[in-house]
Amino acid sequence: MRVHQYEKAFLWLGAIMLVAFMIALLVTSVAMGIHLPGRAGEVDPLSINSIEPFNNPGVREVGPGRYEVVLLGSAWSWNPSEIRVPAGSEVTFLAASTDVIHGLHIDRTRVNMMLIPGQISRNTYRFERPGEHLLICHEYCGAGHHLMSGKVIVE
Ligand code: CUA
Repeated sequence: MRVHQYEKAFLWLGAIMLVAFMIALLVTSVAMGIHLPGRAGEVDPLSINSIEPFNNPGVREVGPGRYEVVLLGSAWSWNPSEIRVPAGSEVTFLAASTDVIHGLHIDRTRVNMMLIPGQISRNTYRFERPGEHLLICHEYCGAGHHLMSGKVIVE
């Protein structure tokens, strides 16, 4: 092979990879419905404690095997800081910040989202196995950032 033939081959390789990645993106986003946790709405952070459903944080059963967790992040704690759900349940987290930006991550799950003041973040996850998951803040939010933890207990 001469040098310009290698160049041609690499150009083709690049073009094929581009098409393959576009197809992978389309299949995962359109056919499989996988996307980033989106903004689920807006809420006034100054009066969040009196706005439904954030005036009543906690775990609620919304159907057979389905739960909703209303979760508030504040410097420097989670409310509630302990979440209990039965194994096999599908849990939708509806989370918001009452002050600054926090990051919500539940260990060993794909629940990972930013809590931006004024926005509601939503994410759904199925907890298959019993056990404990650490609930942490992964965005530096001040002197007590490292204290901001909780747990999800799957029973
Ligand atoms: Cu909240 Cu770091």
